[in-house]
Amino acid sequence: MFTTVGNRDTMHLGMCLRVLILSALTVPIRAAQPAPETFTLTVPDGPISTLSGSSVSLLCQVSPLFNVEPLEVRWYHSSNSHSPALLYKDHKIQEAPVDPRYRGRVSLTGGMERGNVSLTLERVTLEDRGEYVCQVTSKQWYEKASVFLTVNVTGSEPVLSVAEARGGGDQVNVTCSSEGWSPQPKLTWRNKEGTEIRNEQEVLKTSDPQGLVSVSSWLLYASSYSNWLACTFSLSEEAKREGRILPHIYTAPTAVPGVYKEAFIVTLILSLVIICALFSVILCKRRGSMWSSSQKSRNHSDQAELEQRAAETENLIEGAENTGQTPTEQRAAGKEFNKEEAKNLIKCNVH
Ligand SMILES: *[C@@H]1O[C@H](CO)[C@@H](O)[C@H](O)[C@H]1NC(C)=O
Ligand SMILES: *[C@@H]1O[C@H](CO)[C@@H](O)[C@H](O)[C@H]1NC(C)=O
Ligand SMILES: *[C@@H]1O[C@H](CO)[C@@H](O)[C@H](O)[C@H]1NC(C)=O
Repeated sequence: MFTTVGNRDTMHLGMCLRVLILSALTVPIRAAQPAPETFTLTVPDGPISTLSGSSVSLLCQVSPLFNVEPLEVRWYHSSNSHSPALLYKDHKIQEAPVDPRYRGRVSLTGGMERGNVSLTLERVTLEDRGEYVCQVTSKQWYEKASVFLTVNVTGSEPVLSVAEARGGGDQVNVTCSSEGWSPQPKLTWRNKEGTEIRNEQEVLKTSDPQGLVSVSSWLLYASSYSNWLACTFSLSEEAKREGRILPHIYTAPTAVPGVYKEAFIVTLILSLVIICALFSVILCKRRGSMWSSSQKSRNHSDQAELEQRAAETENLIEGAENTGQTPTEQRAAGKEFNKEEAKNLIKCNVH
Protein backbone atom coordinates (compact mmCIF):
# COMPACT_ATOMS: atom_id res chain seq x y z
CA MET A 1 0.00 0.00 0.00
CA PHE A 2 1.25 3.46 -0.87
CA THR A 3 1.26 6.10 1.83
CA THR A 4 1.82 9.66 0.67
CA VAL A 5 0.80 12.73 2.56
CA GLY A 6 -1.28 15.38 0.86
CA ASN A 7 -2.60 15.52 -2.67
CA ARG A 8 -6.01 14.07 -2.34
CA ASP A 9 -6.80 13.84 -6.05
CA THR A 10 -4.09 11.26 -6.68
CA MET A 11 -5.20 9.33 -3.64
CA HIS A 12 -8.82 8.78 -4.51
CA LEU A 13 -8.28 5.33 -5.90
CA GLY A 14 -6.30 4.25 -2.87
CA MET A 15 -8.93 5.62 -0.56
CA CYS A 16 -11.72 3.73 -2.30
CA LEU A 17 -9.72 0.54 -2.11
CA ARG A 18 -9.11 1.01 1.61
CA VAL A 19 -12.77 1.69 2.28
CA LEU A 20 -13.65 -1.50 0.38
CA ILE A 21 -11.14 -3.55 2.30
CA LEU A 22 -12.30 -2.10 5.63
CA SER A 23 -15.94 -2.83 4.97
CA ALA A 24 -15.08 -6.29 3.66
CA LEU A 25 -13.26 -7.09 6.89
CA THR A 26 -16.06 -5.43 8.93
CA VAL A 27 -13.63 -4.36 11.62
CA PRO A 28 -15.53 -2.52 14.36
CA ILE A 29 -14.14 1.03 14.78
CA ARG A 30 -13.93 2.14 18.37
CA ALA A 31 -12.49 5.15 20.11
CA ALA A 32 -8.82 4.92 21.16
CA GLN A 33 -8.01 2.97 18.04
CA PRO A 34 -4.72 3.71 16.33
CA ALA A 35 -4.87 6.19 13.46
CA PRO A 36 -6.52 4.72 10.39
CA GLU A 37 -4.88 5.47 7.10
CA THR A 38 -7.58 7.90 6.08
CA PHE A 39 -10.19 9.87 7.97
CA THR A 40 -12.57 12.77 7.52
CA LEU A 41 -13.53 15.68 9.77
CA THR A 42 -17.00 16.50 11.07
CA VAL A 43 -17.79 20.18 11.70
CA PRO A 44 -21.07 22.10 12.21
CA ASP A 45 -22.99 22.98 9.06
CA GLY A 46 -23.86 26.57 9.84
CA PRO A 47 -21.95 29.39 11.51
CA ILE A 48 -21.36 29.32 15.28
CA SER A 49 -22.43 32.51 17.03
CA THR A 50 -21.26 33.76 20.39
CA LEU A 51 -21.38 36.88 22.51
CA SER A 52 -18.35 39.10 22.78
CA GLY A 53 -16.52 38.39 26.06
CA SER A 54 -17.75 34.81 26.39
CA SER A 55 -16.16 31.43 25.52
CA VAL A 56 -16.99 29.33 22.51
CA SER A 57 -16.17 25.85 21.20
CA LEU A 58 -15.52 25.43 17.51
CA LEU A 59 -16.50 21.81 17.03
CA CYS A 60 -14.34 19.51 14.97
CA GLN A 61 -14.11 15.74 15.22
CA VAL A 62 -12.34 13.02 13.28
CA SER A 63 -14.38 10.30 11.64
CA PRO A 64 -14.00 7.42 12.24
CA LEU A 65 -13.26 8.11 15.89
CA PHE A 66 -9.70 7.33 16.95
CA ASN A 67 -7.03 8.64 19.27
CA VAL A 68 -5.56 11.73 17.63
CA GLU A 69 -2.93 12.39 20.31
CA PRO A 70 -0.03 11.22 18.09
CA LEU A 71 -1.23 13.45 15.21
CA GLU A 72 -0.78 17.12 14.42
CA VAL A 73 -3.74 19.47 14.97
CA ARG A 74 -3.69 22.97 13.58
CA TRP A 75 -6.41 25.63 13.93
CA TYR A 76 -6.03 28.87 12.02
CA HIS A 77 -8.06 31.88 10.99
CA SER A 78 -8.51 31.72 7.22
CA SER A 79 -6.95 35.18 6.89
CA ASN A 80 -3.75 34.05 8.63
CA SER A 81 -2.70 30.48 7.79
CA HIS A 82 0.98 31.15 8.56
CA SER A 83 0.55 31.80 12.28
CA PRO A 84 -2.16 29.48 13.57
CA ALA A 85 -4.36 30.22 16.56
CA LEU A 86 -3.33 26.83 17.94
CA LEU A 87 -0.75 24.25 16.93
CA TYR A 88 -0.61 20.81 18.58
CA LYS A 89 2.34 18.68 17.55
CA ASP A 90 4.66 16.06 19.14
CA HIS A 91 2.06 15.44 21.87
CA LYS A 92 1.91 19.03 23.05
CA ILE A 93 0.65 22.51 22.25
CA GLN A 94 3.43 24.48 20.55
CA GLU A 95 4.45 27.99 21.55
CA ALA A 96 5.48 28.92 18.01
CA PRO A 97 4.61 29.79 15.35
CA VAL A 98 1.29 30.99 16.75
CA ASP A 99 -0.71 34.19 16.48
CA PRO A 100 -0.03 36.14 19.72
CA ARG A 101 -3.60 37.46 19.70
CA TYR A 102 -4.79 33.98 20.75
CA ARG A 103 -2.16 33.38 23.44
CA GLY A 104 -3.70 32.10 26.67
CA ARG A 105 -7.19 31.96 25.16
CA VAL A 106 -7.17 28.70 23.20
CA SER A 107 -7.23 25.04 24.21
CA LEU A 108 -8.22 21.56 23.03
CA THR A 109 -10.43 20.32 25.83
CA GLY A 110 -12.80 17.94 24.09
CA GLY A 111 -10.75 14.76 24.60
CA MET A 112 -8.24 14.04 21.83
CA GLU A 113 -8.11 10.33 22.74
CA ARG A 114 -11.76 10.23 21.66
CA GLY A 115 -11.07 12.02 18.39
CA ASN A 116 -12.40 15.42 19.54
CA VAL A 117 -10.20 18.27 18.30
CA SER A 118 -12.69 21.10 19.02
CA LEU A 119 -11.07 24.45 19.70
CA THR A 120 -12.15 26.28 22.82
CA LEU A 121 -11.69 30.03 22.49
CA GLU A 122 -12.10 32.22 25.56
CA ARG A 123 -12.78 35.96 26.01
CA VAL A 124 -13.98 36.29 22.44
CA THR A 125 -13.62 39.69 20.78
CA LEU A 126 -15.20 41.08 17.64
CA GLU A 127 -11.83 40.66 15.82
CA ASP A 128 -12.05 36.88 16.39
CA ARG A 129 -14.98 36.54 13.99
CA GLY A 130 -14.51 34.83 10.65
CA GLU A 131 -13.63 31.48 9.18
CA TYR A 132 -11.46 29.03 11.13
CA VAL A 133 -9.81 25.99 9.59
CA CYS A 134 -9.41 22.78 11.56
CA GLN A 135 -6.59 20.70 10.08
CA VAL A 136 -5.55 17.25 11.28
CA THR A 137 -2.42 15.60 9.87
CA SER A 138 -1.22 12.03 10.33
CA LYS A 139 1.83 10.41 8.83
CA GLN A 140 -0.17 9.28 5.82
CA TRP A 141 -3.04 11.69 5.54
CA TYR A 142 -4.36 15.13 6.25
CA GLU A 143 -7.80 16.65 6.28
CA LYS A 144 -9.18 20.19 6.63
CA ALA A 145 -12.62 21.61 7.45
CA SER A 146 -13.92 25.13 8.11
CA VAL A 147 -16.01 26.51 10.93
CA PHE A 148 -17.47 29.99 10.67
CA LEU A 149 -17.60 32.11 13.83
CA THR A 150 -19.84 35.16 14.22
CA VAL A 151 -19.48 37.40 17.26
CA ASN A 152 -22.42 39.33 18.67
CA VAL A 153 -21.77 42.56 20.52
CA THR A 154 -24.39 44.09 22.83
CA GLY A 155 -24.59 47.86 22.43
CA SER A 156 -25.02 50.73 24.87
CA GLU A 157 -28.03 51.44 27.08
CA PRO A 158 -30.77 53.07 24.95
CA VAL A 159 -31.03 56.86 25.10
CA LEU A 160 -34.60 58.16 24.87
CA SER A 161 -35.74 61.74 24.37
CA VAL A 162 -39.00 63.59 23.74
CA ALA A 163 -39.38 66.60 21.46
CA GLU A 164 -42.24 68.61 20.02
CA ALA A 165 -43.66 66.91 16.97
CA ARG A 166 -43.42 68.83 13.74
CA GLY A 167 -47.01 69.74 12.87
CA GLY A 168 -47.99 69.95 16.56
CA GLY A 169 -51.20 68.36 17.80
CA ASP A 170 -51.14 66.59 21.16
CA GLN A 171 -48.54 64.17 19.90
CA VAL A 172 -44.87 64.22 20.83
CA ASN A 173 -41.83 62.95 18.98
CA VAL A 174 -40.05 60.21 20.96
CA THR A 175 -36.54 59.22 19.81
CA CYS A 176 -34.64 56.13 20.92
CA SER A 177 -31.04 55.28 20.04
CA SER A 178 -28.23 52.91 20.99
CA GLU A 179 -24.65 52.44 19.80
CA GLY A 180 -22.08 49.70 19.35
CA TRP A 181 -24.03 46.65 18.15
CA SER A 182 -23.03 43.73 15.99
CA PRO A 183 -24.90 42.62 14.00
CA GLN A 184 -27.76 45.14 13.66
CA PRO A 185 -30.24 44.56 16.52
CA LYS A 186 -34.00 44.28 16.16
CA LEU A 187 -35.76 47.38 17.53
CA THR A 188 -39.23 47.20 19.07
CA TRP A 189 -41.46 49.83 20.66
CA ARG A 190 -43.97 48.76 23.28
CA ASN A 191 -46.55 50.55 25.40
CA LYS A 192 -47.09 50.17 29.15
CA GLU A 193 -49.36 47.15 28.54
CA GLY A 194 -46.56 45.44 26.64
CA THR A 195 -48.27 45.69 23.26
CA GLU A 196 -45.93 46.19 20.37
CA ILE A 197 -46.34 49.52 18.58
CA ARG A 198 -45.88 49.22 14.87
CA ASN A 199 -43.53 51.93 13.71
CA GLU A 200 -43.53 52.59 10.01
CA GLN A 201 -40.63 55.07 10.38
CA GLU A 202 -37.39 53.77 9.01
CA VAL A 203 -34.70 52.79 11.48
CA LEU A 204 -31.54 54.84 10.93
CA LYS A 205 -28.26 53.01 11.18
CA THR A 206 -24.60 53.88 10.85
CA SER A 207 -21.55 51.65 11.22
CA ASP A 208 -18.09 52.51 12.48
CA PRO A 209 -14.81 51.15 10.99
CA GLN A 210 -14.90 48.09 13.28
CA GLY A 211 -18.32 47.21 11.89
CA LEU A 212 -20.26 48.14 15.01
CA VAL A 213 -23.73 49.48 14.28
CA SER A 214 -25.58 52.42 15.85
CA VAL A 215 -29.35 52.42 15.57
CA SER A 216 -31.89 55.19 16.04
CA SER A 217 -35.66 55.36 15.61
CA TRP A 218 -38.42 57.89 16.34
CA LEU A 219 -42.14 57.63 16.91
CA LEU A 220 -45.05 60.08 17.19
CA TYR A 221 -47.11 59.31 20.29
CA ALA A 222 -49.94 60.86 22.30
CA SER A 223 -48.50 62.96 25.11
CA SER A 224 -49.03 61.29 28.49
CA TYR A 225 -47.82 61.60 32.09
CA SER A 226 -48.57 58.01 33.04
CA ASN A 227 -48.34 55.71 30.02
CA TRP A 228 -44.68 55.09 29.50
CA LEU A 229 -43.16 53.83 26.29
CA ALA A 230 -40.44 51.19 26.10
CA CYS A 231 -37.91 50.75 23.35
CA THR A 232 -35.94 47.48 23.09
CA PHE A 233 -32.88 46.58 21.03
CA SER A 234 -32.21 42.87 20.81
CA LEU A 235 -30.04 40.25 19.14
CA SER A 236 -31.18 37.29 21.23
CA GLU A 237 -32.71 36.59 24.65
CA GLU A 238 -29.33 37.13 26.37
CA ALA A 239 -28.32 40.12 24.29
CA LYS A 240 -30.90 42.88 24.63
CA ARG A 241 -31.33 46.33 26.11
CA GLU A 242 -34.47 48.22 27.04
CA GLY A 243 -35.18 51.88 27.89
CA ARG A 244 -38.39 53.61 29.04
CA ILE A 245 -39.72 57.15 28.93
CA LEU A 246 -42.90 59.13 29.69
CA PRO A 247 -43.97 60.70 26.41
CA HIS A 248 -44.44 64.34 27.46
CA ILE A 249 -42.42 67.50 27.13
CA TYR A 250 -40.92 68.66 30.39
CA THR A 251 -41.79 72.30 31.16
CA ALA A 252 -39.83 74.21 33.78
CA PRO A 253 -41.90 75.61 36.71
CA THR A 254 -40.69 79.22 36.02
CA ALA A 255 -43.22 79.56 33.21
CA VAL A 256 -45.58 81.81 35.27
CA PRO A 257 -47.67 84.22 33.14
CA GLY A 258 -46.87 88.01 32.80
CA VAL A 259 -48.18 90.22 35.67
CA TYR A 260 -48.09 87.44 38.24
CA LYS A 261 -44.50 86.77 37.32
CA GLU A 262 -43.45 90.40 38.08
CA ALA A 263 -45.48 90.50 41.29
CA PHE A 264 -43.83 87.29 42.34
CA ILE A 265 -40.33 88.65 41.73
CA VAL A 266 -41.03 91.90 43.64
CA THR A 267 -42.42 89.97 46.62
CA LEU A 268 -39.41 87.69 46.55
CA ILE A 269 -36.94 90.61 46.59
CA LEU A 270 -38.84 92.40 49.39
CA SER A 271 -38.91 89.29 51.54
CA LEU A 272 -35.18 88.82 51.01
CA VAL A 273 -34.47 92.44 52.04
CA ILE A 274 -36.54 92.05 55.22
CA ILE A 275 -34.86 88.79 56.13
CA CYS A 276 -31.43 90.39 55.63
CA ALA A 277 -32.32 93.37 57.76
CA LEU A 278 -33.59 91.17 60.60
CA PHE A 279 -30.48 89.08 60.40
CA SER A 280 -28.10 92.08 60.67
CA VAL A 281 -29.98 93.43 63.69
CA ILE A 282 -29.69 90.11 65.52
CA LEU A 283 -26.03 89.83 64.59
CA CYS A 284 -25.22 93.36 65.85
CA LYS A 285 -27.00 92.76 69.16
CA ARG A 286 -24.95 89.64 69.75
CA ARG A 287 -21.68 91.36 68.97
CA GLY A 288 -22.65 94.25 71.27
CA SER A 289 -23.18 92.01 74.27
CA MET A 290 -19.89 90.21 73.60
CA TRP A 291 -18.18 93.59 73.62
CA SER A 292 -19.79 94.61 76.90
CA SER A 293 -18.64 91.50 78.70
CA SER A 294 -15.10 91.96 77.45
CA GLN A 295 -15.14 95.49 78.86
CA LYS A 296 -16.47 94.24 82.20
CA SER A 297 -18.80 97.21 82.13
CA ARG A 298 -22.59 97.22 82.28
CA ASN A 299 -23.06 100.95 81.80
CA HIS A 300 -24.10 101.71 78.23
CA SER A 301 -26.05 104.91 78.72
CA ASP A 302 -23.04 107.24 78.76
CA GLN A 303 -22.41 108.71 75.31
CA ALA A 304 -18.82 109.61 76.23
CA GLU A 305 -18.10 106.02 77.02
CA LEU A 306 -19.44 104.96 73.66
CA GLU A 307 -17.14 107.35 71.89
CA GLN A 308 -14.22 106.16 73.88
CA ARG A 309 -15.09 102.63 72.99
CA ALA A 310 -15.12 103.56 69.30
CA ALA A 311 -11.68 105.08 69.71
CA GLU A 312 -10.43 101.94 71.43
CA THR A 313 -11.75 99.88 68.59
CA GLU A 314 -9.83 102.05 66.16
CA ASN A 315 -6.78 101.24 68.21
CA LEU A 316 -7.60 97.60 67.93
CA ILE A 317 -7.53 97.85 64.15
CA GLU A 318 -4.27 99.79 64.28
CA GLY A 319 -2.80 97.19 66.59
CA ALA A 320 -3.88 94.30 64.39
CA GLU A 321 -2.57 96.02 61.28
CA ASN A 322 0.75 97.24 62.60
CA THR A 323 2.04 94.63 65.00
CA GLY A 324 -0.34 91.75 64.48
CA GLN A 325 -0.39 91.45 68.27
CA THR A 326 -3.46 91.08 70.40
CA PRO A 327 -4.27 94.22 72.38
CA THR A 328 -4.34 93.94 76.15
CA GLU A 329 -8.09 94.35 76.48
CA GLN A 330 -8.66 91.38 74.24
CA ARG A 331 -6.12 89.26 76.00
CA ALA A 332 -7.83 90.01 79.28
CA ALA A 333 -11.13 88.80 77.89
CA GLY A 334 -9.50 85.79 76.32
CA LYS A 335 -10.97 86.66 72.90
CA GLU A 336 -9.46 87.16 69.55
CA PHE A 337 -10.74 89.82 67.21
CA ASN A 338 -9.89 90.37 63.64
CA LYS A 339 -10.17 93.56 61.70
CA GLU A 340 -13.61 92.74 60.31
CA GLU A 341 -15.10 92.06 63.70
CA ALA A 342 -13.63 95.25 65.05
CA LYS A 343 -15.25 97.22 62.22
CA ASN A 344 -18.63 95.67 62.96
CA LEU A 345 -18.25 96.69 66.57
CA ILE A 346 -17.67 100.29 65.61
CA LYS A 347 -20.84 100.31 63.53
CA CYS A 348 -22.97 98.75 66.23
CA ASN A 349 -21.73 100.95 69.02
CA VAL A 350 -21.88 104.22 67.14
CA HIS A 351 -25.51 103.69 66.16
C1 LIG B 1 -15.95 17.94 21.81
O1 LIG B 1 -15.44 18.89 22.73
C2 LIG B 1 -16.24 20.03 22.94
C3 LIG B 1 -15.53 20.91 23.97
O2 LIG B 1 -14.28 21.27 23.58
C4 LIG B 1 -17.60 19.66 23.42
O3 LIG B 1 -18.40 20.81 23.53
C5 LIG B 1 -18.24 18.68 22.46
O4 LIG B 1 -19.47 18.24 22.97
C6 LIG B 1 -17.33 17.47 22.25
N1 LIG B 1 -17.92 16.60 21.26
C7 LIG B 1 -18.26 15.34 21.50
C8 LIG B 1 -18.93 14.61 20.40
O5 LIG B 1 -18.01 14.84 22.57
C1 LIG C 1 -38.71 63.46 15.22
O1 LIG C 1 -37.35 63.61 15.66
C2 LIG C 1 -36.38 63.14 14.76
C3 LIG C 1 -35.01 63.38 15.36
O2 LIG C 1 -34.89 62.80 16.60
C4 LIG C 1 -36.50 63.85 13.43
O3 LIG C 1 -35.56 63.32 12.51
C5 LIG C 1 -37.91 63.70 12.89
O4 LIG C 1 -38.04 64.42 11.68
C6 LIG C 1 -38.92 64.19 13.91
N1 LIG C 1 -40.26 63.97 13.38
C7 LIG C 1 -41.27 64.82 13.54
C8 LIG C 1 -42.55 64.50 12.84
O5 LIG C 1 -41.17 65.81 14.25
C1 LIG D 1 -26.35 36.58 17.62
O1 LIG D 1 -27.21 37.37 16.83
C2 LIG D 1 -28.00 36.63 15.93
C3 LIG D 1 -28.78 37.63 15.10
O2 LIG D 1 -29.53 38.48 15.88
C4 LIG D 1 -28.92 35.68 16.70
O3 LIG D 1 -29.68 34.92 15.81
C5 LIG D 1 -28.06 34.76 17.57
O4 LIG D 1 -28.88 33.96 18.36
C6 LIG D 1 -27.16 35.59 18.45
N1 LIG D 1 -26.29 34.71 19.19
C7 LIG D 1 -26.01 34.89 20.49
C8 LIG D 1 -25.08 33.90 21.09
O5 LIG D 1 -26.48 35.79 21.16
